[in-house]
Amino acid sequence: MLAGEKIIIAVDGPAASGKGTLARKLAVHFNLALLDTGKLYRAVGWNVLSAGGNPENENAALEAAQKIAKADLTNPELRSESIGAAASKVASMPAIRQVLVDFQRHFAANPPGDKFGTILDGRDIGTVICPEATVKLFVTADVKTRAKRRFIEEFGEKGTEEQYISILNDLKTRDERDINRSASPLKQAENAYLIDTSDSDIEAVFEAAVKLVSSKT
Ligand code: CDP
Repeated sequence: MLAGEKIIIAVDGPAASGKGTLARKLAVHFNLALLDTGKLYRAVGWNVLSAGGNPENENAALEAAQKIAKADLTNPELRSESIGAAASKVASMPAIRQVLVDFQRHFAANPPGDKFGTILDGRDIGTVICPEATVKLFVTADVKTRAKRRFIEEFGEKGTEEQYISILNDLKTRDERDINRSASPLKQAENAYLIDTSDSDIEAVFEAAVKLVSSKT
C-alpha cells in the first residue's frame, strides 16, 4: 500500500469465535478506530423488543434501524444472547442491512485524524461492506467451544447445564440463519485469511494476526 494511505481491516466470523476480542486488540496495537458492527444489529433488535415489538416484523425493525445513532451502541444490555437472537432476525432483512450500510462505510472511510485507519468486525465486512479492505480475517471455532465461551461470559461459573444447552442451541440457530440468508450471508471472502481459534488462546491468535496484518501494510 502507499505511504500515508489509511488501512481498513475486516474481521468476520460466526458468533463467539473470538473476532471481537481480536479486533479490540488489533485496534489498540495498530492504533485503529474500531466498529463492532454486530452492535448496530443488536441495537435495532433491542429497540424493537424494548418498544414491545416483534423483531420478525420488518416494519418495526425498519423504524428502529432508521433511528439508530452512535449513542445506542454503548447500551450494556446489548451483549445478551437473547438480543443476539433478535439481532440475527433483523439482520436477515435486506432493507435493514441497506439502512446500516452507509453508517459502516462512512466509519470505514473516515478514521479520526490520529488513527492509522479502521477495523470493523462483523459478518459481511470483507464481502460486502469493505471489499477493498487492506486485510481480511475470517475468525472461526467449533460451535461447542464458542458456546462454552458465551456461556462463561453470560453466566460465569454459576451457570447450569440447561443454560449451556440453551446457549449452544441459540448459537446453532443463529449460525444457520446467518449462513443461509440471501442478504449478505456469513461467508469467508475469497482473499480472507482463515483463523481457527478452537485450540488457540487469544495471545497466540493475536500474534498470528499481527504478523498477517504487518505483512500487508
Ligand atoms: O458477538 P457475536 O459474534 O455473538 O454477535 P454480533 O457480532 O454482535 O452479531 C449479532 C448478530 O448480528 C449476528 O448473529 C448477525 O446475525 C448480525 N450481524 C450481521 O448480520 N452482520 C454484521 N456485520 C454483524 C452482525
